[in-house]
Amino acid sequence: MKKSPGFDLDSSQLPGHVGIIMDGNGRWAKSRNLPRLAGHRKGVERVDEITECACKLGLKALTLFAFSNENWKRPEDEVTGLMGLLRWYLRSERRKILDNNIVFRIIGDRRKLSSDILDQVERLEAETESNTGMCLTIALSYGSRSEIVRAVAKLATEVAEGRVYASDIDEELFESHLDTAPLPELDLVIRTSGESRLSNFLLYQAAYAELSFEDARWPDFNQALFCDHLRRFGQRERRFGQTSEQAAARRQVVGAQVAAAEPKVN
Ligand code: FPP
Repeated sequence: MKKSPGFDLDSSQLPGHVGIIMDGNGRWAKSRNLPRLAGHRKGVERVDEITECACKLGLKALTLFAFSNENWKRPEDEVTGLMGLLRWYLRSERRKILDNNIVFRIIGDRRKLSSDILDQVERLEAETESNTGMCLTIALSYGSRSEIVRAVAKLATEVAEGRVYASDIDEELFESHLDTAPLPELDLVIRTSGESRLSNFLLYQAAYAELSFEDARWPDFNQALFCDHLRRFGQRERRFGQTSEQAAARRQVVGAQVAAAEPKVN
């Protein structure tokens, strides 16, 4: 077992790309007779803690579902409060994101975001685009169906303008039109707060992802629980539609490729 520094986890069994549906802020607050925003505020602390942990573990990508397309329909004061937290997050985490060599991006329908938030986001995206560390992606004003429809619309325009032949459209070309195009394959989706559904999060990308459900609410989620989910991921057999024997052979080939790519220590 190749241990991750500081963690009791086998680094060769870790997922490359983890997505998290951060659910349960409202229920966490309600159970304490607090306003819903207090749950979201606590939730931002968890975003910080889990991002730091994912970085230390050397994950390639972490994608966090912070605000869905449907969330715009929440009461106005909650939407305003969440956007305020987002502004605060972007300002206060900027230094840490830069210092940790993180590539920061958002996915979702940018047209609905206010111009000051979009300015902050785009500035941070530009500042971090040539970083080489973990990709931290925040799904904001995001819905998977809308992302797929936007990708189809982009492709249709390119076909209509004669830049792409309809017969050239395959999975690779389609995926290059999704918001997640630069990200590696999604390996694991974790959802907190006891619900077992994807709620319009990375539906296309999750085709072969492992799904892991957690009873704790997002404000109670911590590094230890995160590591438990990563450990369980390492124990699952991923077959990608093949037989157990084929999957084992595939793992050996991938393992050998990873070992060959690792720097040699003399
Ligand atoms: C779901 O809980 C959570 C959200 C809709 C928002 C998630 C937001 C954060 C964790 C904080 C903001 C994040 C950033 C990056 C600034 P819910 O409100 O649906 O909870 P409930 O199902 O218990 O009501």
